[in-house]
Amino acid sequence: MRPLIAGNWKMNGRTDWTDRPVAFDSLLPSRERTSVEILICPPFTLISNLVEAAKGTDIQIGAQNCHANEAGAHTGEISAEMLADLGAAYIIVGHSERRAAGESSDDVSLKAQAAFRAGLTPIICVGETLEEREAGSAKEIVSAQISGSIPENPNKFVIAYEPVWAIGTGRVAEVGDIAQMHEHIREQVGPAVRLLYGGSVKPGNAGDILATPNVNGALIGGASLKAEDLAAIARQAL
Ligand code: PGA
Repeated sequence: MRPLIAGNWKMNGRTDWTDRPVAFDSLLPSRERTSVEILICPPFTLISNLVEAAKGTDIQIGAQNCHANEAGAHTGEISAEMLADLGAAYIIVGHSERRAAGESSDDVSLKAQAAFRAGLTPIICVGETLEEREAGSAKEIVSAQISGSIPENPNKFVIAYEPVWAIGTGRVAEVGDIAQMHEHIREQVGPAVRLLYGGSVKPGNAGDILATPNVNGALIGGASLKAEDLAAIARQAL
């Protein structure tokens, strides 16, 4: 399965970051360009600029969220169709920072459905909190999130396993724990679904994580803000 290296810029970046995809692309040897799928998910405000800037590179641009409906009276919201119209290819749905703000698996499922409707691929995020892991219920929690977040009759989708306690903390899950959880998720979703790991992935730990069985790529927050770091991670994805 072709690995997917996905950067999640979160609420970072102004228009003067428009040239970053090209800077990043120029750091990748041609082998990685074709063997690894690269995605950058900037804030909504930069999607148009980045889609334009990434033309002529192999880098794809995605979004970090969408509304479940196609259009209507939803002040401040953005639909999957609007993102498709801008040239986005993927939408991250159910990131733990959104789940923590009240988004349920039902909401995530509707958003994933909206992505399918618009012809985009959702990256459905799941992951347990530290309390849930310490209570021994990590697999149960992740399975429930997955079954609740995948719409009926799904199209192509990606799962990102991101233990909440490893996001933005510098604390990375042990490779053995990642392997166990990814095997567990693989049993649930089958062989065709790409499974990403996320949570403090950096150039220094990406090699081991990406070599773990059933890990088909990474979702990268902090380290995706620097073209050099993202390129160093992508180079290890082969
Ligand atoms: P991080 O974020 O790499 O900064 O831990 C990952 C994510 O939230 O997707």
